[in-house]
Amino acid sequence: MIPPLLAPTADGDVMRFELRIADSRHVFGEGRTATTLAYNGQSIFGPTLLWRSGEFVSIEVTNDLEEITTTHWHGADVPAVADGGPWSTIGPDESWLAEFEVIQPAGTLWYHPHRNGTTAEQVYNGAAGMIIVQDDNPTAAMLPRTYGVDDIPLVLQDKEFDDDGQLVFEIDDSQVGDLNDELTVNATFNPFVTVPEGLVRLRLLNGSQARVYELSVDVGPLIKIAGDGGLLEAPVEVDSVELAPGDRAELIVDTSQGTTALLDADFGRVVELRPDASLPAIGSLPESLAEIEALADSPIDNERTIVLDEVPGGWAINGSQMDMGVVNETIRFGDTEKWTISSLEGIHAFHVHQTQFQIVEWNGEPPGPEDSGWEDTVLLREGDEVVIVARFDSYTNPDIPYMFHCHILDHEEEGMMGQFQVLTGS
Ligand code: C2O
Ligand code: CU
Ligand code: CU
Repeated sequence: MIPPLLAPTADGDVMRFELRIADSRHVFGEGRTATTLAYNGQSIFGPTLLWRSGEFVSIEVTNDLEEITTTHWHGADVPAVADGGPWSTIGPDESWLAEFEVIQPAGTLWYHPHRNGTTAEQVYNGAAGMIIVQDDNPTAAMLPRTYGVDDIPLVLQDKEFDDDGQLVFEIDDSQVGDLNDELTVNATFNPFVTVPEGLVRLRLLNGSQARVYELSVDVGPLIKIAGDGGLLEAPVEVDSVELAPGDRAELIVDTSQGTTALLDADFGRVVELRPDASLPAIGSLPESLAEIEALADSPIDNERTIVLDEVPGGWAINGSQMDMGVVNETIRFGDTEKWTISSLEGIHAFHVHQTQFQIVEWNGEPPGPEDSGWEDTVLLREGDEVVIVARFDSYTNPDIPYMFHCHILDHEEEGMMGQFQVLTGS
C-alpha cells in the first residue's frame, strides 16, 4: 500500500527521472477491480519522487494514453515552461521534458495532470504521485524519515464504484463539488501499517476531487510539523487538521501507547498504526524545525483582491472564467504582494502555482502557529476572507503563464482558474 520511491539516476550534476503514464488496473479490495491511470507500470498512482534542494532535476514524462495529459509539479517553485500546467500538453505517444533546479526547502509536494477539461477525471482515476523534497536542514535527521517505516505517505481520495467495481467519475454542479461515499487511502480500504513504537510521521496528501478532510487521532497527541510547502518553525500540537483538496500536511503521531488510528470527521478510520517494538523508534521531536522569513515584515509592493464567486454556468475568479487567451494578472518580478481573497459563494481551495505564500489573516485574525508556514493552497468557506503574502522573485515567464485556481476540481473545470505572468520592469 506504500507507493514505491523513485530515486533519480545521476547524470553529472543532473538528477534524471522518467515517468510514463498509461492505463492500468487496480484491485482496491472488497471485490473492486477498476480501470485506472498510473505512472511507471504501477496499478494506480505514480512513484514518490525524491528531490534534493539545490539539485538540478530533469524529468521526462511519456504519455502512453490515448488522450492528452500534462504533468504539473504542485507546490514546486519552477520556471513556467517546466510547471506542467495546461500549456504543456503531452499528446499520445509524446514525451515532455521538465528541467529545473530545486530551490525550495524540504517538504511534501505532488504531481498530477493539469489539462484544461480533463484534470479532474485523470486525477480521480489515479494519475497522481507524491514528491518528497529533502534539504540540508539538520533537523531532518531528528525527525522520523525512513520511508514506509516511520515516514508514511498517505494519499486520500474518496471514490464511487459501480456494481462492476469500476470507478464512477462525474463533475458535480453543486456548491461543494463531487463528494463520494468511499474513502480510499493509498488506493485501499481501511488500511493498517506496522510502524515503530514511538513517533511516526504521516505525510498526508488530499488528492480528492472535492472532499475536505478533518483529521484527528484516537489516542495521544496529534502534532503538525509541516503544511503544504515545508516544515513549520516548531512542532504544534493540534486537535485536528483540515485538509482541502490539493493540500498536504506532515503530522506526528505517537504509538507508544499502542495501536493508534488516524480518524476523519466524515469517514471515521483513515489508517490504523500498529506498533512493533522491534523496529527502531524516535522518541522525541526537536524543539524547532525550520527558520521561516515572515514575508509580511517586508514592504508590500502591490496588493490584489481576489473574489471567488459563482457565475451562470460555473465559477469565476474576479468575475472571469478560465480563458487560455487571457492573462488575468501581471506581477512585477521581485515584488512582495498581498492578496485579499474572499469567497462570496461556495467553498474553495485557492491554489497559486510557482510560489509558496504565507497566510497573514484569516477572517481578521492572525492564523495559529499550525497555519503559519509555507502554503500553496488555502481553504475558504462561503463568507471567508483570507489575506496572504507571497514573493515573486524566482522566475519571470514572458512566454507561458502560471495558473491560480480553485483546487476543488469540479470548480476548476467549470471555469474557476486564471493565469498570471511574472515580468521584469513593468
Ligand atoms: Cu495541483 Cu494547478 O494544481
Ligand atoms: Cu499547482
Ligand atoms: Cu472552488
